[in-house]
Amino acid sequence: MTKQTHLISWIAGSSITAAALAIGIIGISLTLTGTGYADDDHNRGRGIPQNVEYSAECGSCHMAYPANLLPAEKWRAITANLEDHFGDNASLDPQATARIEEYLLLHAAKNGKVLKNSKPLIAGMGPQKITEQAFFIRKHDKIPKRMVQDNPKVGSFSQCSNCHNLAEKGVFNEDTVNIPGFGRWDD
Ligand code: HEC
Ligand code: HEC
Repeated sequence: MTKQTHLISWIAGSSITAAALAIGIIGISLTLTGTGYADDDHNRGRGIPQNVEYSAECGSCHMAYPANLLPAEKWRAITANLEDHFGDNASLDPQATARIEEYLLLHAAKNGKVLKNSKPLIAGMGPQKITEQAFFIRKHDKIPKRMVQDNPKVGSFSQCSNCHNLAEKGVFNEDTVNIPGFGRWDD
């Protein structure tokens, strides 16, 4: 009951902010409140610098995840194992892999923290999902399955940009969230 009330007021809030945001885009450069990342002070309000090769090679099966979602050693584990990439073969030639790794490491989350006040990331060196990191689970554990896995317009939590309008820019503020088809949620 309280959860529903919370979610409903959250939708109302999001539509208002969406409208405000649209105006903001035309007007000033988005007045982004920053990405909320621990290491983004130098980057506040600008999002992650884009890389054409990364977006093309790593954005075909899922969105090209912003580099500051994982620390350097976790990106390195991913780029070192592209032939066995979460069940897919995502391998590239060694030069392309090296260039992409360089870009990811340059913009990776620093200090072992992804989000301000987040718990430390899970330990271990193998390739790891963003969606299995502590900060991610903490932020998404109240969203019911029918809005995600059972929602054909979303599919899975790995499809960030289906819900986060500015995900490609590395912006994940709650204000920029819009779960497609959420309006059908009626009780
Ligand atoms: C051939 C398709 C394919 C390509 C190309 C690909 N990936 Fe993936 N990637 C996947 C699949 C499948 C998953 C698992 C998604 C899931 O569980 O829903 C995944 C997951 C990920 C995750 C974890 C996402 C999560 O759920 O937290 C990261 C990070 C990632 N990929 C990075 C990369 C990088 C970096 C590249 C480019 C070098 C890349 N991917 C290219 C198929 C691909
Ligand atoms: C089903 C829709 C959905 C998907 C898919 C999704 N998110 Fe979210 N995300 C949300 C919602 C809703 C919130 C706000 C949760 C709350 O009320 O605190 C959120 C919050 C966040 C936050 C915290 C923002 C803040 O300012 O506190 C981050 C960071 C985030 N998501 C990252 C991601 C990433 C990265 C992915 C993909 C790997 C992703 N999300 C996929 C719905 C989604």
